[in-house]
Amino acid sequence: MSTPKRYLITSALPYANGLKHIGHLAGAYIPADIYVRYLRAQKREVVFVCGSDEHGTAIPIQAMKEGTTPQAIIDKYHQAMKEDFSDLDISFDIYHRTSSQLHHETAQEFFNLLNNGGQLETKETEQFYDEEAKAFLADRYIKGTCPNCGSDRAFGDQCENCGRTLSPDELINPVSTLSGSQPVKKKTTHWYLPLGQHEEFLRKWIIEEHGKDWRPTVVGQCKSWIEGGLQSRAVTRDLDWGVKVPVPEGEGKVLYVWFDAPIGYISATKQWAIDNNKDWRPYWEDKDTKLVHFIGKDNIVFHCIIFPIMLKLHGNILPENVPANEFLNLEGDKMSTSRNWKLDMRDYILDFVKKENGGGQCVDMLRYYLTQIAPETKDSEFTWKGFQDAVNSELVAIFGNFVNRSLVLMHKLCGGKVPKWHEDIADDNDRSLINDIKNTKINLETALEEYHFRDGLFQVIDLARKGNQYLQKKEPWILAKKLEQDPECQKQIDNCMHLCLQLSANLAIYINPYLPNTAKKMLYMLKVVEKMLDWENGGKLNLLSVGYSLREPQLLFRKIEDEEISFQIEKLKNGSSKPLTEKIMEEKQPEPAKATIQYEDFAKLELRAATVVACEKVAKADKLLKLEVDLGIEKRTIVSGIALHYTAEEMVGKQVVVVTNLAPRKMKGIESQGMILTAEDHDGKLRLLRPEEMVAPGSSIS
Ligand code: 2FM
Ligand code: ZN
Repeated sequence: MSTPKRYLITSALPYANGLKHIGHLAGAYIPADIYVRYLRAQKREVVFVCGSDEHGTAIPIQAMKEGTTPQAIIDKYHQAMKEDFSDLDISFDIYHRTSSQLHHETAQEFFNLLNNGGQLETKETEQFYDEEAKAFLADRYIKGTCPNCGSDRAFGDQCENCGRTLSPDELINPVSTLSGSQPVKKKTTHWYLPLGQHEEFLRKWIIEEHGKDWRPTVVGQCKSWIEGGLQSRAVTRDLDWGVKVPVPEGEGKVLYVWFDAPIGYISATKQWAIDNNKDWRPYWEDKDTKLVHFIGKDNIVFHCIIFPIMLKLHGNILPENVPANEFLNLEGDKMSTSRNWKLDMRDYILDFVKKENGGGQCVDMLRYYLTQIAPETKDSEFTWKGFQDAVNSELVAIFGNFVNRSLVLMHKLCGGKVPKWHEDIADDNDRSLINDIKNTKINLETALEEYHFRDGLFQVIDLARKGNQYLQKKEPWILAKKLEQDPECQKQIDNCMHLCLQLSANLAIYINPYLPNTAKKMLYMLKVVEKMLDWENGGKLNLLSVGYSLREPQLLFRKIEDEEISFQIEKLKNGSSKPLTEKIMEEKQPEPAKATIQYEDFAKLELRAATVVACEKVAKADKLLKLEVDLGIEKRTIVSGIALHYTAEEMVGKQVVVVTNLAPRKMKGIESQGMILTAEDHDGKLRLLRPEEMVAPGSSIS
């Protein structure tokens, strides 16, 4: 394929329902970032888009878990994910969000075009409905007994205990998690995308056109979907969180999250174009654009089957490649949020990047190890020991060591200036290293163009290794000792150091897509401008001019100490083996016990769950918030001393536990009609008590 006019690179839009871990980072973000940095160094026109996926049931479910609103959840995690990506130098041109109005309009326009063009079917089916909450129930909103293992905590889509995929119909004694009532079956109509009608197109496009250049794992998954028979897929849901179905019959329904999320790539491009005064259309409509989706393997069907059908029907270009990665395990086990067996990007950032001796080099260390073990062809594994080995024996001992030795020796033996090159005494060792510098560029280019990032990184480290071997053979420090007897030795020293410095400059160019902070630090030491990192400079041997004086070297990487590794392993094991409550208990000093009371005394208390509907600070009282709470049958005003621990904004939407039969009391002139229960931590911090999951306002507590 000839060089495309422009590139549009996407990374999967992560769900804004929690922090993302290093498995996500290794799968869809670091590889895309490497590719994009390489394209930018090539001076190609490229736009790199991503953003938060803020719809789907995952969001309201997380809101229930955290006792807050879906809006508060997406705001919190959108911001957190955006910061984490930026802290790890993932260089998106835009990090957008699917809750934006632009996205809603874009997704609705997309739906309308397909619907008006007769490309969607409607079908009536029966689905579970909660008569109390007056809502259809997404599979996740139904709980019951697992037909497989008997656990009474299975959901309508999966049993958390045995892992079996379920449908709500299979659950024994299903109940709605919204109201606790037994759901009934009710008829509902939805729009479907008839995938089966596009089978021929998919066969031709995936198997014939891309069967050879896409990763075998990707083609394999697509083939098995096609062979398995493509069923029509519902593209709408009965839910009140998402992009509204833009037709009158769609009242109360939203687009299925997997219909709107990939359209998020388009709306992100539109927003980028608005911000940069560009035209977005060629990126999605001109065949001379190369579109590449970077994703994890669980997203293959959506990016290779469903979204391409949508794109084709909508008249857009199709992806040139979808380099999906397999999964990354952690210390011998699958990463899991519920078991807390994971390493969040945020954890690494706090423990390494933001530490005193951290910064850019720690970002690059993680980028290095995650690329070295990237699950490109099969699942792979992150271990802390592996991380330490990769950093200490490759980054420090090979790459960092070569650059450092070259600069230290140059300062010592050549007076801090780039020495001359004497062609007349060049030998086979020199010529072989020069060939290696040039060949690395070609090999690296091939690896990057074919999405073999691991292999490309190996090529760069191997070149640094060859640099070390060259120094070891030439031994300029020994030559320096012979200078007095043989002044001709200076020419040999010059050649050796000249070549090592030119090699260092080339290494900066080659490592730049992978480890941008390292490349920048090298530029500083070599006293050259960023332009030197342009890809076209790779393989050149005149990047540093003779006589040019360079800065004193600094170490590129620090070592990872054993204690850091054992600390992380302990942290992982403790975090996953003990529930959080247990850890808090360990730290807390128990208060002296109060006298025993009879049940009748306890039963005098009326405790109810309430939802905060409004909240504001009480004027001239640092500690007080005035809350309006919904108790189902009535609303009440409560004044609570939690203002140092919660802001008024974050209280709205939260569920709390209220003592409702306490005699009213005036505080700062406001009558408080109840008391909100909190737990006081050993450091005096107050935390709200609330039901584990949202319950109907007014539910009694006993
Ligand atoms: O699996 C996920 O995390 C999805 N939120 C990915 C969406 S990718 C794209 F379609 F937006
Ligand atoms: Zn089960």
